[in-house]
Amino acid sequence: MIELTRCYRFPAAHLLAQEDLSQAENEQLYGKCANPAGHGHNYELEVTVTGPIDERTGEVMSRDRLDAMVDQQVLARFAHRMLNDDELFAECVPTAENIARVVYDRLEAPVSAAGGARLARVRVLETRKNTFVYGGSS
Ligand code: NI
Repeated sequence: MIELTRCYRFPAAHLLAQEDLSQAENEQLYGKCANPAGHGHNYELEVTVTGPIDERTGEVMSRDRLDAMVDQQVLARFAHRMLNDDELFAECVPTAENIARVVYDRLEAPVSAAGGARLARVRVLETRKNTFVYGGSS
């Protein structure tokens, strides 16, 4: 087994707040991130796939194919957007934890369908101090 990690970036905005809490309660929970104006991050995303080296191509997975999946499933949808407005975050606060989980869930099936490799984990770097890794629920 070998791992391939590809790195991507996308700017996006979010606001951390729960609808059923007051502004004061949300600020207590999320601090400055609950500011109603929202704020942006330049997210760094690392997508790691794992699998055997394909005997014919010598690769674990086509980088172009992985890039196309990430473009389609993640970057085209989230880049330069307010994440709170996306239906994927209708039921959950768009914390970096949930962004990592949502990205993983959107990439898992397409990666497996490509044959050979499977999605190992996604890593979301939100700030220099905050990095989140999600490897699936199983
Ligand atoms: Ni934030």
